[in-house]
Amino acid sequence: PTPEKWSRVDAYLTELLVGHDPDLERAVADQQDAGLPAIEVAPVNGKLLHLMARISGARRVLEVGTLAAYSTIWLARGIPGDGRVVTIEAEPRNAELARANLDRAGVGEKVEIRLGRGADVLPTLEGDEPFDLVFIDADKESNTIYLDWAARLGRPGTVVMVDNTVRGGEVANPATENPQIIGVQRGLEMLGRDPRFDATAIQTLDAKGYDGIAIALVV
Ligand code: DHB
Ligand code: MG
Repeated sequence: PTPEKWSRVDAYLTELLVGHDPDLERAVADQQDAGLPAIEVAPVNGKLLHLMARISGARRVLEVGTLAAYSTIWLARGIPGDGRVVTIEAEPRNAELARANLDRAGVGEKVEIRLGRGADVLPTLEGDEPFDLVFIDADKESNTIYLDWAARLGRPGTVVMVDNTVRGGEVANPATENPQIIGVQRGLEMLGRDPRFDATAIQTLDAKGYDGIAIALVV
């Protein structure tokens, strides 16, 4: 399809199925005003995360990569009042903005922001109750590390989702030298081979362009 066509379809689906939400729109506007890149998930995919939390009956959610908490708000709204989202963010300024966005959206009490690199923070979560859903959306070079922790901090039945698994089609380029794409490839290879996971991936074409999301079950 032409960009005009898929953009129109994305706008159509977003209008019909997602609609408008002042708290989410403010979160994105404040993210932009703070000079952060517009790399939050598209609205249709935020809603996908939200529905996956509800479909799986998740109470405890782990997110790696908060940015300004757009996806975190969607996830927090998908869990019950006594549920918890633990979200990991390496950049203090992002965490501060995320905190303001979460509080304004009325989900602040459900969300714990852990400041630090995923690889440093994840081991500190060992021994807590297992997570029911894990969303990986941080530095792509570390996807295998994050997937390993998702399996360790999850349980059989935990849902794992990984953002940005197609990257404009570059994921299928075996000669790529881009370390982020290589990270995505290693993560997908792990999902295919590691007996702890059963997985698939879908290509997405939306406000963020041509990309994809992997969805896995911890077995
Ligand atoms: C980009 C998009 C993302 O969703 C992300 O997590 C990281 C980077 C990008 O388009 O560069
Ligand atoms: Mg992403």
